[in-house]
Amino acid sequence: MDVPRLMAQVSAKKKAYVETYGCQMNASDGELMLGILAAQGYEVAATPEDADVILVNTCAIREHAEQRVLGRVGQLNQLKLERPELVIGVTGCMAQRLGPTLLERAPYVDLVMGPDAYRRLPQVLARLRPAAANGAQRRELPVLSKAASLRVAALDFQPHENYEDLEVRRTSRLSAWVPVQRGCDYRCTYCIVPYVRGPEKNRDPEKILAEVRRIAQDGIPEVVLLGQTVNSYQHGEWDFSRLLRAVARVDGIRRVRFTSPHPNDLTPALVEVMAQEPAVCKQLHLPVQSGHDRTLKRMLRRYTVASYLEQIRLVRAAVPDLALSTDIIVAFPGETEAEYEATLDLLRTVRYDDAFLYKYSPRAGTPATRLPREQFIPEEVAQARLEGVIALHRDIQAQINRGELGRVVEVLVERPARTPGDVLGRTDSNKVVAFPGDPAWIGRFLRVRLTATTGATFVGELVGDPALQVA
Ligand code: SAH
Ligand code: SF4
Ligand code: F3S
Repeated sequence: MDVPRLMAQVSAKKKAYVETYGCQMNASDGELMLGILAAQGYEVAATPEDADVILVNTCAIREHAEQRVLGRVGQLNQLKLERPELVIGVTGCMAQRLGPTLLERAPYVDLVMGPDAYRRLPQVLARLRPAAANGAQRRELPVLSKAASLRVAALDFQPHENYEDLEVRRTSRLSAWVPVQRGCDYRCTYCIVPYVRGPEKNRDPEKILAEVRRIAQDGIPEVVLLGQTVNSYQHGEWDFSRLLRAVARVDGIRRVRFTSPHPNDLTPALVEVMAQEPAVCKQLHLPVQSGHDRTLKRMLRRYTVASYLEQIRLVRAAVPDLALSTDIIVAFPGETEAEYEATLDLLRTVRYDDAFLYKYSPRAGTPATRLPREQFIPEEVAQARLEGVIALHRDIQAQINRGELGRVVEVLVERPARTPGDVLGRTDSNKVVAFPGDPAWIGRFLRVRLTATTGATFVGELVGDPALQVA
């Protein structure tokens, strides 16, 4: 090898690619990992094909999510057949859940790292020797060597790791995720999150505010505060309502959203901040999970249908035009037909603008899996319940959205729409609107009249001259 080529190789930066699944917290962790790697000299690869290190940042919330990811990791193994030096890592919640067993199932995976270990990513990668691809010529499982045991070393919970003082690599110029809390202290009986993300930890409010100020200085107008039960946030004298108010008052921040609040921590003070602070979006995602008290109790949600409805009444009274969304699980073990019907009734009562609807998925190690076998709902019944709740929700959503037609709303223009000549934006209440426009408007707040709806999204038209509108 001649000297110039050798030098080029030595100085060539390694490229990393992170592919994220799951919730916004996980997506935010993906940006954190890229930031940590970039600070150590890595470049960000545009595609997996272009990368020296691929990290698949996984979710464990439902069986289906895990199956998809395992399939994807298998696909990436094909790249490794051509490039044996390629490093494949699995990070995030499924990595934490499966740990070393993942290395046995997928011998071509080099690194399994849980959500508390990302700070060590560059050091761990530097010590890795990539495992062989699992090609036709090499079917046997590798012996778990010293190098292999190094690969599983990154699964401990770190009670003080809040990833302070690290640069994240943000993907959006318009909206920034800001985790304010990690982990969860609730123990909903169906849920894997407390087991894969550990106990609740809250960040120092001063650090959060400093981050939000930097975001505003970078010209990003929207922040989304993240936590598994974000409104249980508590740090010294600061609770979530105080934090939200302070964030909403940072100069340059036009919109603040937060997700997911737990109904039990929705305090009057928080409702007041939502009503008073113009930057706090008129949008609330309040997961209910079920519309029946017995199921709620068995899920260990710690509220009743009546207390939940009372919260909704209070917040709606304080924040007119509030858009509400929720999460629902149907076919929790032991859910009777009448209990399922009660969930449908709750949907009819609340009339959610949006809803994320799931079929119960057993997660090993969670209390619900220990319920008597005969309580588990047969797949056909579960599927029918899911389809029923989806149909009802879509119907309600379309009715609500038809009622919005003719209104003029402020839209933050996000990107070109699929239809050429259209752009896509989001309203304060998180509704998506496509309208004829110029991609040069991306990043601007414009007034748009809602003219038609597809059910879930809107079509609109600009009101007035964009040049005269506030930026
Ligand atoms: N921390 C958030 C939710 C995180 S998980 C909260 O408490 O609101 C997002 C949603 O996934 C949950 O609200 C729930 O509706 C759903 N979910 C969680 N575990 C599930 C399981 N085992 N099966 C089906 N859906 C589940
Ligand atoms: Fe899971 Fe419940 Fe914690 Fe949400 S509050 S993450 S559903 S245990
Ligand atoms: Fe999934 Fe982990 Fe989020 S399990 S939903 S990625 S916290």
